[in-house]
Amino acid sequence: MLPSISSYSFLYTLFAWLLGFCYGFVLLSSAAGHNAGVRLFDVGSAVSYKLHSTLLFDENEESTKDVGFYIDADVVIEAVWENDEQRLLKIELKSPRLHIKSRKAPTPDGFIPHWSKLEELTNKPFLMVWKNGKIEKILLAKTEEVSMVNLKKGFASLLQIQLSEGTVDETDASGKCTATYTSQSSTKIVKTKSNCTSDDFYRVNNPHEFLRVNRNSFITVEYEADSSKTYLNSIVARENHVMYLPIKEDIACRVKSEQILSYVSSEKIRILEASTVEEAIESISKTEGLIFTQETLLTERESLDEETHSFTKQVDSLRGYLDAKDLGSLKPAKAFIKLVTTARRASKDDISKALSSKKNKGILLQLYDILGYAQTKDSHEAVMKSIHLDNENQIEVSERYLWATSFSSQPNPDIAENLLKQYKKLTNIPPKIQETLVLTLGSMAYKLGKLPDKKLHVKIIRDIEETILNNLDYAKGENKFVFFRALKNLHSPSTITVLLNYVTNGTQKEGVLAWKAIKAFGPDLWDERIQSAAVKAFFQLDRKYDSSSRTLAADILIESQPNDRLLEDILNFLIGTDPAYEVKQYANRKIGMLADEDNTIRARVQKIIRKNPKLNNYHGLAPRGLSLALTRRFMSNPYSNGSLVTVQEMKSGIAKRGTVDVVLDKHGFSKELFSLGIFSGGLHSFIASEETENTDEDEAATAGMELTVLETQIRPFVFFNGQGELMGHVWSGTASEMTPAFQVLLMLQDHLEHLRLGSGFIAELNVKGATSFDLSGKIEISLWNRNAQSLVQKSAGIATTGSISVDSKFVKSQAEFSTSIETKLDLQTDIDFYSNVHLCMRLTQPDALFRHNIFKVEKIPGSQHKLRISKYKKYAVPGTTYSINKKNNEMCSAIFS
Ligand SMILES: *[C@@H]1O[C@H](CO)[C@@H](O)[C@H](O)[C@H]1NC(C)=O
Ligand SMILES: *[C@@H]1O[C@H](CO)[C@@H](O)[C@H](O)[C@H]1NC(C)=O
Ligand SMILES: *[C@@H]1O[C@H](CO)[C@@H](O)[C@H](O)[C@H]1NC(C)=O
Repeated sequence: MLPSISSYSFLYTLFAWLLGFCYGFVLLSSAAGHNAGVRLFDVGSAVSYKLHSTLLFDENEESTKDVGFYIDADVVIEAVWENDEQRLLKIELKSPRLHIKSRKAPTPDGFIPHWSKLEELTNKPFLMVWKNGKIEKILLAKTEEVSMVNLKKGFASLLQIQLSEGTVDETDASGKCTATYTSQSSTKIVKTKSNCTSDDFYRVNNPHEFLRVNRNSFITVEYEADSSKTYLNSIVARENHVMYLPIKEDIACRVKSEQILSYVSSEKIRILEASTVEEAIESISKTEGLIFTQETLLTERESLDEETHSFTKQVDSLRGYLDAKDLGSLKPAKAFIKLVTTARRASKDDISKALSSKKNKGILLQLYDILGYAQTKDSHEAVMKSIHLDNENQIEVSERYLWATSFSSQPNPDIAENLLKQYKKLTNIPPKIQETLVLTLGSMAYKLGKLPDKKLHVKIIRDIEETILNNLDYAKGENKFVFFRALKNLHSPSTITVLLNYVTNGTQKEGVLAWKAIKAFGPDLWDERIQSAAVKAFFQLDRKYDSSSRTLAADILIESQPNDRLLEDILNFLIGTDPAYEVKQYANRKIGMLADEDNTIRARVQKIIRKNPKLNNYHGLAPRGLSLALTRRFMSNPYSNGSLVTVQEMKSGIAKRGTVDVVLDKHGFSKELFSLGIFSGGLHSFIASEETENTDEDEAATAGMELTVLETQIRPFVFFNGQGELMGHVWSGTASEMTPAFQVLLMLQDHLEHLRLGSGFIAELNVKGATSFDLSGKIEISLWNRNAQSLVQKSAGIATTGSISVDSKFVKSQAEFSTSIETKLDLQTDIDFYSNVHLCMRLTQPDALFRHNIFKVEKIPGSQHKLRISKYKKYAVPGTTYSINKKNNEMCSAIFS
């Protein structure tokens, strides 16, 4: 019998383990006292080293010019006292000096020494209690500045070494880490630090899979003892942190750190007489005249005298960038980023002042966008001083504030609680605000449940869910509808039972709204119950369903990887006798869309078709239907794909339910960023072609638009409700001018993190992305000529800035990126219902320019030195007209011939 692979791997593991164990044994067991071979920091010895600590910042590309500095110093480590394995080490960091990159350096890209405040900082000896490699205590002179203390903690952390191979938790200048030790030779051991966390620092991170900010960190420390194993010959610590956007990973910044400690000489010194470590410390304290304070190895943030901006003043200086007419372009997005940052630090009074200033009247709505993202106690209180949710005259500002609050990726639970309280308490909230408020609460609860500390928010999340469900229960008739949308925003699996009850037992309209909510929950929550309800609805097994319920059920079934049987049933349905030809056409196009993208689905569909000759002609099925489902790529880079997914469920030539979704994909994972939906009902009597399907429910004429932004649906915009309103529009032409339907400033990336570097510096990682957005539209209907035209235009200016920076008393360095693009998307629809219904849709996107700039800056506080390296990159994004399908092309030619 052949030896199996696993027995080989067993031998290999055994071999590796023995080898590793031996190395580990030689270097380390002796340090543990079993062997006289190695004695690190032997009491009565002083070892001198050179320390060389470098920090470099760049954009994470090959052969770029970085900025950065190094600090060198002489270090003397004296082992002054010992008891058992416990050693007291007295350490001096002598004459630390800053070196910076300079053109004057002897080698290109080299360093020269430069004066800095580092030379003036108080610098006393410090003490460390070291036991078998573990640092039990670090004691620092009381009077030192944080910059100096951090530098020492960074150095001290190098001396923390584990005495056997394996993985342990360690806390040092890098934070709380998992440290893994491996021996590489009898004198060399390598430590890898991973999963370092600094939970004590305030953090912000949008959890959205595409809008989050990722960081890859890599940290190693190599220890090498001399051949006689009596001292450490060198310690080399290297770390590399790359911060990047998952949506386009080449938008990135990097910081690299290297600490090298090299042996210079050793000598003998006097040993301290003391019976305890406390006594020994006391004795040094006396002779040196120093008061020591015990600290941990964790470095601390410096309180630097940052210039604090007043919100009011910053609004003054940026007012010109916040005009409503500029929404959809880049300018407001850039100003928005700055103002949200300032608003988060601003006081209530400062914000109130900006809100009540006459000069800000014209930009108030934009200010409420900003404050909705600030999400601080002060910002909310200031807003609530200015607006009253039950004030009939403040509908517009209230909605803008609530929208921003509902889009915010990291809502403040106290604000959610306050809004819930107002929702329950206020009796006279105008219906529009009432609806926006409950949709906001649903969304806030969902987003609170996605935060890392979600456990703390369980109560408010539950209270919101209960409120929505109770209100759904009590409400009558159309008043129920808003709560279905709130449940859609809530995304809570525990509401599925209630929603399915409405699917089965509710009115047709309630069923559609329940399906819309369930569909928004996404495939992960589409369980057995939902699948079986979807089968019943799509095939109308238990009752009559609204055609939108059927097409939504089709979406769910087709998007959940249906098994062969179900797929065959759906395909057979397409050639069956059901008269709902648009439902058939919809399902047909939906399968077609998936098969175009996914080879396995295509193969399965083809196999089923080959088995059944009647299906052979399935591409030509339901030729009367106009419904469509298609995907068009608008962005592609090695890290993600972006698509426009359009589905239109048609009825009598008019889109009854249509969406254009902006969807991002990364290696099979996809997520919708934005969805524009249109709906209409009861319009067939206007069109009255002979193709009209029979409808039982006599609907009132209505049409409107629904927007879902980052998984939050907002209150639908209704163009008209009822025949009278429609005719009013038609005759007065009110909708025939380009009119903004929705304008907003939105935050995309929202990230702030403080990263402890092993060398003692703390890097700030800050990324903010924003878009200024405008959705405008117009529609013209001519009953005389029996045609209608509509144009929907989406414009967005998207700006992102990100930086990694280190800011200390004596040096400031950073690498920064900024990107920007202005884009537009036009959806133009022409309907001609003169004889037969012709519908022509055109989806176009004009040329755009993507900019990606990189700035690297270095300054030395208190000196003239300033280094700045800039790089500007531009990429043209050519415009496109998305081809829709053959039938659409034919209809366009028919209309425009
Ligand atoms: C780091 O954390 C991740 C996720 O929590 C975990 O999967 C991984 O095993 C951890 N790595 C180590 C070395 O502990
Ligand atoms: C519909 O109502 C009936 C009778 O009240 C009930 O038994 C059934 O469970 C309901 N359907 C769903 C899906 O909840
Ligand atoms: C983008 O789409 C192409 C074509 O479908 C695919 O090959 C590629 O893997 C996708 N890229 C990512 C990052 O998902």
